[in-house]
Amino acid sequence: MARILTGIQSTGIPHLGNILGAIIPAIKKSETKGNESFLFIADLHSLTQIKNADELKKNTLYTAAAWLSFGLDTKKTVFYKQSDIPEVTELAWYLSCFYPYQRLTLSHSFKDKSQNLKDINSGLFNYPVLMAADILLYDANIVPVGKDQLQHLEITRNIASRFNKHFGDTFINPKADLEQNSNYVIGTDGNKMSKSKNNIINIFQDDNLLEKQVMRIKTESIAINEPKNVDNCNVFKIFSLVADEKDISILKRSYAEGSVGFGEAKKILLNVLKNKFKVERDKFNFLVNNPELVENELKTGSRKARNFANKVLSRVRLKLGYNK
Ligand code: ADP
Ligand code: TRP
Repeated sequence: MARILTGIQSTGIPHLGNILGAIIPAIKKSETKGNESFLFIADLHSLTQIKNADELKKNTLYTAAAWLSFGLDTKKTVFYKQSDIPEVTELAWYLSCFYPYQRLTLSHSFKDKSQNLKDINSGLFNYPVLMAADILLYDANIVPVGKDQLQHLEITRNIASRFNKHFGDTFINPKADLEQNSNYVIGTDGNKMSKSKNNIINIFQDDNLLEKQVMRIKTESIAINEPKNVDNCNVFKIFSLVADEKDISILKRSYAEGSVGFGEAKKILLNVLKNKFKVERDKFNFLVNNPELVENELKTGSRKARNFANKVLSRVRLKLGYNK
């Protein structure tokens, strides 16, 4: 049996790219029998960038509500908030004393972020050590991550090895499970959908706002009754990710015949989004309006996670001579 653990950033309402590329596949994976799954909202990492309590809380609520609305089963997955387990910051301190400063300066993500952000705080610099603590605190075997997080996993493995070498076997050395997101979801401008690019489709907002985003999808200027090529069409590309086979072939034929314009195709896409995600949208709204339900789920998960965390931390304290 393997313990699979991953952290999710809480940076607002997840968009269609996050849903199709991360949420749905991760929930499917967590349903695999025989594995144990841990999923947490990395709200301590968010503090490196967000310094507003309401914003931090809202982001956590939106992120958790999105995962729950897509059917994350909290009986099968330990679902918790990083900040509910203060033990992780204690472990992060210990680990930081086992990793050379000089090596941390080689972190790609720190270099990227420090070029783009105004607030270059030392939390941002220590980010990978906190991430190592997130993983090692739960004896995780497998960590599903995107390509951008692979270096953080290497740092985690390196810290675990250094500690184990010094004190004898203490930590499990985790493996990265690289998410093959080669088919990323495009945004309204045809580039990869991303919060930072102002090109997202947010299915959780109300119908009018959703319609505005769908209508904004960039298309070529071809007359309504001209034949159109599906391969060049952003509307069709998004449509083919969410519609069923039959509707995809009908729209494809209409494009070839020149019997549908882009405006109408966008309306068809909008309807598919509304119908396909009706249950999830309703559930998301319900949860956001009843935040105590989400809090309760996270509290239950945190209690379970904390039990594991304390066992591992006792093991570490014993090695370090801090046990009572
Ligand atoms: P963003 O690019 O909007 O900041 P994140 O980097 O927070 O998104 O991504 C969170 C998760 O969603 C990651 O697992 C990432 O691989 C996935 N993801 C983000 N954007 C897309 C996309 N356009 N298509 C597929 N998956 C995506
Ligand atoms: N840094 C990860 C990201 O940006 C989020 C994260 C925090 C994480 N701690 C983790 C992922 C531990 C996996 C394991 O997406």
